[in-house]
Amino acid sequence: MPPKPLILFASSEMYPFSKTGGLGDVLGALPLALHRQGCNTAVVTPLYGRLNTSEYPLHLLYSDCPVGYPWAPITTDIYLADFHGMPVYFIHRDEYFDRRFYYNTYRGDYFDNCERFIFFSRAVLELSRLLETPPAVIHASDWQTALVPAYLYFARMSDPAWRDTRTVLTIHNLAFQGRFSSRLFWTSGLPPHAWSMDGAEYHGDFNLLKAGIAYSDMVTTVSPSYAREIRVSAECGCGLEGILTKRSDHVRGILNGADYDVWDPRDDRYLPCCYGAKDAEGKESCKSELLKELGLSDELMDKPVLGFIGRLREQKGIDLLLDILPELMKLDVGMVVLGEGDIVYEEQCLAAMEDYLGRFSARVSYTEDLAHRIQAGCDIFLMPSRYEPCGLTQIYALRYGTPPVATAVGGLSDTIVPYPDPEATGFTFRESEPEQFLEAIRQAVTVWQDHAAWSALRERAMRQEFTWDKAAHKYLDVYHALGAAV
Ligand code: ADP
Ligand code: GLC
Repeated sequence: MPPKPLILFASSEMYPFSKTGGLGDVLGALPLALHRQGCNTAVVTPLYGRLNTSEYPLHLLYSDCPVGYPWAPITTDIYLADFHGMPVYFIHRDEYFDRRFYYNTYRGDYFDNCERFIFFSRAVLELSRLLETPPAVIHASDWQTALVPAYLYFARMSDPAWRDTRTVLTIHNLAFQGRFSSRLFWTSGLPPHAWSMDGAEYHGDFNLLKAGIAYSDMVTTVSPSYAREIRVSAECGCGLEGILTKRSDHVRGILNGADYDVWDPRDDRYLPCCYGAKDAEGKESCKSELLKELGLSDELMDKPVLGFIGRLREQKGIDLLLDILPELMKLDVGMVVLGEGDIVYEEQCLAAMEDYLGRFSARVSYTEDLAHRIQAGCDIFLMPSRYEPCGLTQIYALRYGTPPVATAVGGLSDTIVPYPDPEATGFTFRESEPEQFLEAIRQAVTVWQDHAAWSALRERAMRQEFTWDKAAHKYLDVYHALGAAV
């Protein structure tokens, strides 16, 4: 039997090869979930210098493939890895991808990000051409690959080979749009009439995400609430609410899942001790080891320890957390922060370690294994995001029995049942205001002190299921609605 038509995911990150946040986690799980449901899926992603390939060796598949206009002589090598039976293609071009960071250094974005991802997007098309039959669906994510649907839209008009290829763009965070000088539009290879208010132009700039929204067959985002928020509020729409409203009939919100093969305390290779919903002792051991690892006082074993993992940026409300820290620490709790981001917040976190010696720990780094141990070793997880397209860390926190205290926005309100609902799995507050955040934490600490109430809430949290299987079905519905026979 010939293989089913291909769904090709194009992404700038894919866990475990590369990751800066949730995008990497999603690409490490969704294509595989569809593959396990019998779909023919593959991923194409850059071959970064700092790629983690220890468990999945790469093989050279094609060398010197021309990537075409606008840089005629430029070529790419394409490598292939087998990821649990699913192909992953890597676009190799060292001057673009062999760098210390993915998108930016501490001094700001790489100056040639637009060129890097124009190159990558065109290489995705080149790969698609080289495959036996063109993909039935090309599914792009965020600004880095948003030009792929735009190129396809115009290629389809003149080249019958693309006639049956459909495109989907998933927006993981509307605040990152890939906005560049108009000069770069004219080197992108898009036709001149794509330079319009309904196309790639945005206040005189070249906006890659906007081009993707304008020209994709379907736009999805990562939770139903965020899909609503970005059309009704200028704050969440980040200036693109107009084009999103215009394309409303082609915008869907599909809640992310969690990869429980990677994020489950019953079987987590990064934990000193695995545990399930009924095994409070296992979680206690993780707490005690975490306190040792971070040099925190073992007196915290009798007190709630709060955890925060995430980018130290205003989106994540780290400033709110730092604002309330003096009041928060009066509650006689411990606090653990893992994150990197704006230098001012990094410095404030490090300074707080001295102010609250033995009770507050901050790690300014990106450390995958420590993130797992913090999820397991803390009692309460803090996620005071100003907006949150979906959020995965709170979904992981639920599974690790670390009920979240979170703002009731976007994916956070779609995944947390707030106390005092009898089915509560966490705590939410309405506005990103310090007083409301503090009040929600006070509430969580009070429930934590009531052993029976806390155990019941924690067990309910741990039993929540946000599987990728559910989400994969919804994406399949989208592909089918576009007429793709996948
Ligand atoms: P976002 O994608 O907006 O950063 P998500 O909650 O969707 O937020 O996903 C964040 C992912 O990145 C999670 O897997 C989380 O564990 C991970 N992460 C964030 N910051 C760090 C860090 N400093 N060290 C390790 N992992 C991190
Ligand atoms: C983005 C969002 C986050 C979401 C993730 C994966 O980084 O900020 O809310 O969970 O993408 O979709």
